[in-house]
Amino acid sequence: MDPVELATSCAMPPVLSRSAVAEQPRCLRSAHLKTDTFNVTAVAPYQAMPVAGPVITHHKSTALPVVEPHPELTEEEREARVAEMIGNYMKKLAERTHHHMGYPYNLDFDYGLLEGLTKYSINNLGDPFIESNYGVHSREFEVGVLNWFARLWEIDEEEYWGYITTCGTEGNLHGILVGRENFPDGIMYASAESHYSVFKAARMYRMQAEKISTLESGEINYDELKAALIANSGKPAVLNLNIGTTVKGAVDDLDRVLEVLKEAGYSEDRFFIHCDGALFGMMMPFLSRDAPMVTFRKPIGSVSVSGHKFVGAPVPCGVVITRFKHVMALSSDVEYLNSRDATIMGSRNGHAPIYLWYTLTRKGYEGMRRDVERCMRNAHVLKQMLESAGIKTMLNELSNTVVFERPKEEAFVRKWQLACEGDIAHVVVMPNITVEKLEEFVADYVQSRARVSIAAAKRVACEAKAAEEELEA
Ligand SMILES: Cc1ncc(COP(=O)(O)O)c(C=O)c1O
Repeated sequence: MDPVELATSCAMPPVLSRSAVAEQPRCLRSAHLKTDTFNVTAVAPYQAMPVAGPVITHHKSTALPVVEPHPELTEEEREARVAEMIGNYMKKLAERTHHHMGYPYNLDFDYGLLEGLTKYSINNLGDPFIESNYGVHSREFEVGVLNWFARLWEIDEEEYWGYITTCGTEGNLHGILVGRENFPDGIMYASAESHYSVFKAARMYRMQAEKISTLESGEINYDELKAALIANSGKPAVLNLNIGTTVKGAVDDLDRVLEVLKEAGYSEDRFFIHCDGALFGMMMPFLSRDAPMVTFRKPIGSVSVSGHKFVGAPVPCGVVITRFKHVMALSSDVEYLNSRDATIMGSRNGHAPIYLWYTLTRKGYEGMRRDVERCMRNAHVLKQMLESAGIKTMLNELSNTVVFERPKEEAFVRKWQLACEGDIAHVVVMPNITVEKLEEFVADYVQSRARVSIAAAKRVACEAKAAEEELEA
């Protein structure tokens, strides 16, 4: 899977080191320019500058004070103040929702019919398939959703086990735990571009982990994986495969990895594969083109996705499906629940399954397919728009994540809530991102680049003037 890329060239303004900033003529010191030092090495065509470690801006959160009862405030005044605070917050949410591009969240949903559910404390604590004594639960929805996913990933209802998680991270923590419990001395293998939760899982479970480098597309380096497997051939393997990496949306080729395992001498009883499909695991089954399908007909151990990503939900959630025979290694009865414990969490969000059930029921497989096709189409539209504006991009063939040069204006990054890593940023084209929204974004980006270029030109002029003054003095 080679990245689809265009080598549109564009001159980037020079980058200044921190010490150089202090030496600049004063007229330039306030210019809004990035000021980190970069070594110049070979870069991929879509990259503006080599990655030089994290560029993290820690913006401190603000605090909304809790409104304590006050003798000078009547109850009505207090209620009015609270209503005003909530009203302002709702306005902020609407604005932030409008200007959102960077994270893979589908913000287009309408759960109006379910509003009444906030009156209930719905909790699915314990095993989804075994009712607890706590009756205010939504297991009927949860199991319905799990069956839908079991069908999507082709595993019989009697053969799978799973649950609705808090998020994609919990799905990864669970998948890797199931792998570890089945292979207590297993070594975890994952690519360097895996989500951070994958190596966090290895740390939490004190597992030996092998971080495998990636190809330019972001896929795992299959040759390096094979070499590592051969080097550790005495121990079983617990593999995390990315069905869409976080930053570049790269899909590790499951079929190729199965081939690598075979060539390295690992039989099916000596490996466990967890597929992290946070976003794209939900999209890939609906693609009309040929894709390396993720299915339990192949020897995989588990798959997880985030529910708030492609499906869209007002609360973070996710789904993990594994094989029943594998989960037995970590499940035990809990008397006070009158259920079984095989999940990571104790109490579990009972609203989330209802949201997922509602959207899946309303859209069905066909509606999901339409959403996937539109996102893939619009990702190509965005790529073309950026390139026609002279901005270098990359888009993996199996992805709706459009990667481009990291914008230099921090205010622009924050306005559009872009996720950045090193010198690249991305837009994940989700169902709520229309062509009109893309137009607004690209026009804004072009203006931002113009501001940066003007500031750079001014700097050159200013330096020339300063040099002239020095000569004349
Ligand atoms: C590949 C991948 N895995 C896991 C996660 C974690 O998902 P969540 O944010 O739902 O915990 C993400 C989040 O973006 C991701 O991109």
